[in-house]
Amino acid sequence: MITTNLATAKQALIANEIIAIPTETVYGLAGNAYSETAIKKIFELKQRPFYNPLIVHVKSAAFLSQVATDIPAAAEKMAKNFWPGPLTLILKKQPNIPDLVTAGKETVAVRVPNHPTTLNLLAQLDFPLAAPSANPFGAISPTTAEHVDNYFKNTLSVVLDGGRCEKGVESTIIGFEDDQPILFRHGAISVEEIEKVIGKVRVRTSGNDTDVSAPGMLSRHYSPATNTHLTDNVGEYIKMFQHQKIGLLLFKDTITDNSIAHQEVLSPAGDLAEAAKELYAALHRLDKLDLDVIIAERFPDNGLGKTINDRLQRAVESE
Ligand code: TXA
Ligand code: MG
Repeated sequence: MITTNLATAKQALIANEIIAIPTETVYGLAGNAYSETAIKKIFELKQRPFYNPLIVHVKSAAFLSQVATDIPAAAEKMAKNFWPGPLTLILKKQPNIPDLVTAGKETVAVRVPNHPTTLNLLAQLDFPLAAPSANPFGAISPTTAEHVDNYFKNTLSVVLDGGRCEKGVESTIIGFEDDQPILFRHGAISVEEIEKVIGKVRVRTSGNDTDVSAPGMLSRHYSPATNTHLTDNVGEYIKMFQHQKIGLLLFKDTITDNSIAHQEVLSPAGDLAEAAKELYAALHRLDKLDLDVIIAERFPDNGLGKTINDRLQRAVESE
């Protein structure tokens, strides 16, 4: 049920139930990070393989040391600059974090989400929340309570409504190898912004389906059910699919062509942050239209354009 009642949300979590929570990036499926019972339920609900670890959400940077240890100076610096916010750090885990959360790894993913409702909820709990994005494994991430409700109508007792997600794409993930920062997943904070704070960040190249040391890197992800293509040349693809029911996902401008069934323009003003915010909602809408094909325009390869291209690329990969 969609609700704004924090007390119900809190009670459910204390009873080891799973609820949906709003964050500034996407909605999460949250449970007590210390409870194996709760964590198992998250994996079951999401139909997520146990080898793919979860992010732990803490109430403030001061609680980082409760879940992680041996924290590099650059991580401290990023936490200070970007938390609460859409940055996830992969750090050495504290022993009290269940193996189920980290998929048996020695590292844990942690962040402080920047959403008033969820920060308020966390402040009332004496445990952190493990939460993956609130979509079935491989599906498009939810950026509204209604998206979550459509996925999990019959199974979630509480979908905590915090409105539309401000950022609209997942957090940026940074890990470390020999104390050197590495970008594991493009996200709501651009690499350029992070480099302003800690200097050069190496970008981990995309892994394959068995390489889960690279988070968010399972190739098929964020996928609409509709056949989807990503291209620099939308016109060419329109020709290729002529006489079919076409939906377009575009950055700034619509295309003048009466044969197109539906067009989604993410930011008429050409603002990448606005485009990121609209991305998943537009994909959800397109996917509901019984189209034969979705043709997505490739975004400029800088700032949040990189994050958008990354998600679109994963949306088009075949299984
Ligand atoms: O914005 C976000 O990050 C959202 C909100 C709800 O916080 N959460 C999210 O969670 O996107 P999820 O589970 O959909 O993606 C988390 C990614 C996964 O790809 C997982 O493989 C990776 O983080 N991950 C988690 N723990 C890890 C670890 N110890 N080492 C490497 N990767 C890890
Ligand atoms: Mg996800």
